[in-house]
Amino acid sequence: MPETLFSFKKEQVLFEAAAVGVGEAMQNLPVLELCGISKGFGGTRAVHDVSGAFEKGVIYGLIGPNGSGKTTLINLISGFYALDSGKIVLSGEIISKRRPHELASLGVVRTFQMPKAFASLSVLDNVLLPIAGDERSESLSQMQEAAHEALQITGLAAMTHQLACALSGGQTMLLQLARALLCAPIRLLLLDEPFGGVAPALKDRIIQVIRQINERYGATVILVSHEMSTVRQLCSKVVVMSGGRWIAEGTLDEVSASPEVVSAYLGKPI
Ligand SMILES: Nc1ncnc2c1ncn2[C@@H]1O[C@H](COP(=O)(O)OP(=O)(O)OP(=O)(O)O)[C@@H](O)[C@H]1O
Ligand SMILES: [Mg+2]
Repeated sequence: MPETLFSFKKEQVLFEAAAVGVGEAMQNLPVLELCGISKGFGGTRAVHDVSGAFEKGVIYGLIGPNGSGKTTLINLISGFYALDSGKIVLSGEIISKRRPHELASLGVVRTFQMPKAFASLSVLDNVLLPIAGDERSESLSQMQEAAHEALQITGLAAMTHQLACALSGGQTMLLQLARALLCAPIRLLLLDEPFGGVAPALKDRIIQVIRQINERYGATVILVSHEMSTVRQLCSKVVVMSGGRWIAEGTLDEVSASPEVVSAYLGKPI
């Protein structure tokens, strides 16, 4: 793995690590706490009074039937939607009212279910553009170097100077991860169905990048997916939503044995 992307910010990583309390004794402290959060659209309770915690360094699967509130939850945590009520806490700090770009600078980054790129810009410029307006301590050349390394890690280096319109859907998903890498050190990575319609070889690459981000930064990952085999492969814990509520958490085997989870997926017995 190229080292510079991760090493040029080594001091910042150590500072952040100290700030969020990384250490043997604190490994299991929640990095993210949801305290009774709700979001409705008209008469729809998309997320309803959800409380729960996510530990540092764990890859979580966020699963549930269609319309159960998974994307809305990701939109709330990442600051794309405002809460109707409740509180979101990141490493002890209330972040409920933070905007997405502020959260990104705190290492809270996300990908979208329908990835988009600026078609008429190069792949490299697509990686750099989201951070172009940020006040950052790095020089432009350091950011360019980091962007090149993010493209290397995500397997897109050969396309660096091509227009983004040449990217497939799976490659555009990898581009989102390259952008996320520019917000290192990543504390919380939120992934909304990153494998949908992605070719198997690119899917393996996405899985590798997720693992790298998790291992390198001790990042907590929340992965929304309907692909249970991939959830089993990547996630040591899962959270299940149904009807906007957090109905279960545990290993995939544990939640699969829950009557409430079975009923959420299959409906009540007739
Ligand atoms: N912007 C919106 N405006 C109106 N209703 C919405 C909006 N976003 C979501 N909803 C509704 O909120 C509920 C939860 O939707 P959400 O997209 O969060 O579910 P999901 O679990 O991500 O589903 P899927 O697995 O199909 O992606 C659904 O009933 C949906 O129709
Ligand atoms: Mg969704």
